Amino acid sequence: CRIVVLVSGNGSNLQAIIDNCDDHLLGEVVGVISNKPDAYGLIRAHHHEIDTSTVIAQESETREDYDARLQIVIDKYQPDLIVLAGFMRILTPQLVNDYLGKMINIHPSLLPKYPGLHTHQRAIDAGDFVHGTSVHFVIPELDAGPTILQAKVPVYEEDVAHDLALRVHEQEHAIYPMVVKWFSQQRLQMKNGQCYLDGQL
Ligand code: GRF
Repeated sequence: CRIVVLVSGNGSNLQAIIDNCDDHLLGEVVGVISNKPDAYGLIRAHHHEIDTSTVIAQESETREDYDARLQIVIDKYQPDLIVLAGFMRILTPQLVNDYLGKMINIHPSLLPKYPGLHTHQRAIDAGDFVHGTSVHFVIPELDAGPTILQAKVPVYEEDVAHDLALRVHEQEHAIYPMVVKWFSQQRLQMKNGQCYLDGQL
């Protein structure tokens, strides 16, 4: 399974996936793409001799034009799976539809709760006792694709957003590589807008 990972920042989820692909049996990260030239995820990729590309948005460029350029770079790697790992851009329906069933994202909340930004603070503000993270297939609607796997974490009274972020990250590093492995074993499918694992809903 040829895997391309899109990052904008630290890339700790990228690292978790690289570390779990070490034996090349599950799949191989063949490229890392960033919209930010200084994303630490690019340095992580270099450490593992993984090819990298940077696609920087130009002023005055439309979202469609950016995504058309991004798509050329993605396709260069001929990926079977596209993994969004902290890629902080909203993708156009056109791009998303071209990769339906082949693109996954990790989002730091128990979707459908808290799509969008500032999820940890929102969970705290709502007084939630449980928070977490979700891996889902990407569809044009933001953070709304069918859920593949979620992990929960407790929220403690004294928590600030940073505490929760750390707790959520730890779970992300456990579940994202697992989902990538399932996909590369061809156990995962999106059909009619729903997620199937081993043929089961
Ligand atoms: C993660 O919390 C993920 O849920 C969100 O962006 C963050 C990326 O973190 N989509 P990292 O760059 O993988 O460390």
